[in-house]
Amino acid sequence: MIKIAPSVLSADFTDLKGQLAVLNKTADWIHFDVMDGHFVPNLTFGPKILHDIKQISRLFMDVHIMVDNPVKCYQWFKDADLITFHYEALKNDAERADLIMKIHASGIKAGISVKPDTPAEALEPLLSLLDLVLVMSVEPGFGGQAFLPSALSKLKYLAEMKKSRNLAYLIEVDGGINAETAVLVKRAGAEVLVAGSYIFKGDIAMNIQRIK
Ligand code: DX5
Ligand code: ZN
Repeated sequence: MIKIAPSVLSADFTDLKGQLAVLNKTADWIHFDVMDGHFVPNLTFGPKILHDIKQISRLFMDVHIMVDNPVKCYQWFKDADLITFHYEALKNDAERADLIMKIHASGIKAGISVKPDTPAEALEPLLSLLDLVLVMSVEPGFGGQAFLPSALSKLKYLAEMKKSRNLAYLIEVDGGINAETAVLVKRAGAEVLVAGSYIFKGDIAMNIQRIK
């Protein structure tokens, strides 16, 4: 069953409550893009927005931390249901496996995200530890960018690995998702679709239906 995770980054923050009322009825997850201005050239928000939204939404809180220091940063997002950090933010697989365990020890699911230039094969040693893998179909940092078709082969690889090894991780894709690219990523094996600019421009409920 495909899940839709609207990215709050693209919401109109002057009407967050109104938009959440629609999301609560139509979306499956809420995607929070946390950026530190170092790992990516943009700065967004911290745990307070997650905490406040959690008071008025029962949706699954999907936190994507695009930060240089995920080992410190994950601890601030206690209201998250899942925290996804970047493969590229840590030096080796021992550090990555250790952070996955730390996130799990705090009762939260753990995901790893790969940037467009990082091959999905790099994740192979960690797949059995993960609840989710996030394939970036844009360079992380901003909403509203064009979809990178190179993400499709990564999604296919991850879908094949999941099937052949009978693993449990969910396959999520993030960046440039709209009515056209949604068809492509679902066919390639994506199970959770993050979308920001497409969903929040115009009729939110209709846009979510169009990509589901
Ligand atoms: C980019 C973020 C994405 C982005 C998606 O760094 O991780 O979640 O907000 O926005 P759209 O759907 O507009 O590409
Ligand atoms: Zn994201």
